[in-house]
Amino acid sequence: MSTIREARHDEIPELLPVLVLAEANERALRWSLENLSDTVYRMDDDGALVGAATVRWGDDEPEIVELAVATPHQGKGSGKRFVGWLVEEARRRGKQALLVGTANASIENIAFYQRCGFRMHHVRPDYYWYHDEPEIEHGIVVRDMIVFRMALHDDEQPTPPRSRARRERR
Ligand SMILES: CC(C)(COP(=O)(O)OP(=O)(O)OC[C@H]1O[C@@H](n2cnc3c(N)ncnc32)[C@H](O)[C@@H]1OP(=O)(O)O)[C@@H](O)C(=O)NCCC(=O)NCCS
Repeated sequence: MSTIREARHDEIPELLPVLVLAEANERALRWSLENLSDTVYRMDDDGALVGAATVRWGDDEPEIVELAVATPHQGKGSGKRFVGWLVEEARRRGKQALLVGTANASIENIAFYQRCGFRMHHVRPDYYWYHDEPEIEHGIVVRDMIVFRMALHDDEQPTPPRSRARRERR
């Protein structure tokens, strides 16, 4: 059986090997746990750790800070299920929207978050300034964070592209 729940503080060391998949720089990960997120979640399947996520709930638009599924469990729908659970939790808390960011070069994550229903929102330029060595994915240097946003309220529905195009032609 698959479960998702808030992790206790004393469980965090057990989650680090999974969270490091989302933030490979361990120093940055520890700093992030201290300063950027306020809640850590774990996903287990029949007693085995499947994934972990960290969230900063404080703001009206909270943010998933790290999200990772353990390598053997990737590609089986667990990441999307985890995101869906966090989206429901954000709704339950009455939040306006949920944010999540990933690196400009992380093409797979850019696909993943859009398949989970997020839309591109803004860029945090030079977010990854703290990398000791340049990190390269798909031949692209990791520099900026692309922030995705999911609106959680019905009164904030996007204008459908067709009607927008018609309005712009007028
Ligand atoms: C990113 C991550 C959380 C995705 O979790 P996952 O369990 O592997 O993904 P899922 O199986 O739930 O996939 C959900 C959807 O995303 C798509 N997707 C997942 N990985 C993808 C990839 N590498 N390329 C393109 N699409 C991908 C799937 O096709 C699926 O689409 P569908 O539901 O429309 O069919 C996981 O791969 C991971 O932990 N990666 C390492 C850590 C990381 O990079 N975290 C994000 C940092 S911001």
